[in-house]
Amino acid sequence: MKQISHLDDIPSTPGKFKMDKSPYNRLRWHSSLAKLTFWSFIFLALIFIFFFRSPSSSTPQSLSDPSRRYLQNYSWGGAAWEKRVRSSARIRSRNGMSVLVTGAAGFVGTHVSAALKRRGDGVLGLDNFNDYYDPSLKRARQALLERAGVFIVEGDINDEALLRKLFEVVAFTHVMHLAAQAGVRYAMENPSSYVHSNIAGLVSLLEVCKSANPQPAIVWASSSSVYGLNTKVPFSEKDRTDQPASLYAATKKAGEEIAHTYNHIYGLSLTGLRFFTVYGPWGRPDMAYFFFTRDILKGKSISIFEAANHGTVARDFTYIDDIVRGCLAALDTAEKSTGSGGKKKGPAQLRVYNLGNTSPVPVSDLVSILERLLKLKAKRNILRLPRNGDVQYTHANISLAQRELGYKPTTDLQSGLKKFVRWYLRFYADGKKSGV
Ligand SMILES: NC(=O)c1ccc[n+]([C@@H]2O[C@H](COP(=O)([O-])OP(=O)(O)OC[C@H]3O[C@@H](n4cnc5c(N)ncnc54)[C@H](O)[C@@H]3O)[C@@H](O)[C@H]2O)c1
Ligand SMILES: *[C@@H]1O[C@H](CO)[C@@H](O)[C@H](O)[C@H]1NC(C)=O
Ligand SMILES: *[C@@H]1O[C@H](CO)[C@@H](O)[C@H](O)[C@H]1NC(C)=O
Repeated sequence: MKQISHLDDIPSTPGKFKMDKSPYNRLRWHSSLAKLTFWSFIFLALIFIFFFRSPSSSTPQSLSDPSRRYLQNYSWGGAAWEKRVRSSARIRSRNGMSVLVTGAAGFVGTHVSAALKRRGDGVLGLDNFNDYYDPSLKRARQALLERAGVFIVEGDINDEALLRKLFEVVAFTHVMHLAAQAGVRYAMENPSSYVHSNIAGLVSLLEVCKSANPQPAIVWASSSSVYGLNTKVPFSEKDRTDQPASLYAATKKAGEEIAHTYNHIYGLSLTGLRFFTVYGPWGRPDMAYFFFTRDILKGKSISIFEAANHGTVARDFTYIDDIVRGCLAALDTAEKSTGSGGKKKGPAQLRVYNLGNTSPVPVSDLVSILERLLKLKAKRNILRLPRNGDVQYTHANISLAQRELGYKPTTDLQSGLKKFVRWYLRFYADGKKSGV
């Protein structure tokens, strides 16, 4: 940054030359005026150069700063757009709610949006359609929701002007916040995307929610990854969550603390849901059950991790329909936020729940089930679990969600994967969609 160091040479308060009107200083004043003009010119030139060349300036923002990349280019607003927003969010059942679903083109977001719409709630989606994984899958989910009458606004949760506009057009009673940068290992490649979506984006959303009138109740997705290096199983909500094993986990944990703050200061009703490895139709291509299926079909070898001393790596796989029921129950039992005019008026609800399946399955068993369903043998490549974010074991204690949300998962891995594989084969059989 050579240009910046040059700025040090410029008089810091050029304005003071003008105030020096004493006749004594006439002569000096003239030469000062020339100096002033000269330095002003240099100053402006440097500012110009700085703003148009500097990588951190606002003009080429999208090119250099990945965290700003998604804010560009979305167009929203106008009468036709507002009409679509209103119609999508219109409540069609008695005692229904109107819900803003962020991350609606995502795996969980699509299923939750469809389920809400089906029972007559008003639903408006928001998603930035980023390319963390194949955006054509997000577009296919969007088309699915479109047919169900759900409109997904294209935009970023960091765009506060857009969020304010949405709350101006619709008095959302609830927000289902599912937009996030997911994935554990990708954090080493693109850490700022986690800060952008999971921290800055969450704050932006909560800022708008706290000033909305009325304030909505918010349910949002945390993650089982907050249990981090915890070794006590099953994981209960009261267990420690201060040893995250990945940046992803750390941003979700930060989210839980941020939620506490907005509940405490502004009276926002906030419910965090710690999902445990969600899988199912329309799932995420970056998750093992998904790319194992793809690679087994292609005859490619798959990497299966094991811990030290042949220790089992296992996950508490949770079927999407069970997660959706948990999400809806969290929305249905959410109390109203208590603030108004951006000020807290009384204590508000603050909750956190595990949503898991309570039966961890070794990843090698997952592969065996897939082999049976696909009628193909997998080429297994056993590797040591690297220490880059993944934990060895997850197991949810769901008794709290059971008691307070009536949450009761009903799908075992075998039946759930059967539905996933059926969807996968149908979806990717059509050659047009085989881009994953
Ligand atoms: N699927 C799981 O196993 C799992 C487990 C634990 C937690 N979660 C959490 O659940 C939520 C949903 O997960 P998912 O599996 O559906 O992931 P997903 O990636 O399929 O969905 C997230 C969606 O959010 C959108 N998005 C990301 N950043 C955005 C931004 N800044 N502005 C607007 N939209 C943005 C993405 O385009 C994507 O469509 C996430 O918060 C995730 O962290 C998921
Ligand atoms: C932004 O708009 C330009 C011009 O319409 C287009 O070429 C470009 O692909 C868009 N970029 C994104 C990220 O959508
Ligand atoms: C599960 O969590 C509940 C609290 O919600 C606790 O009372 C119970 O002891 C936990 N069970 C186990 C096996 O840890």
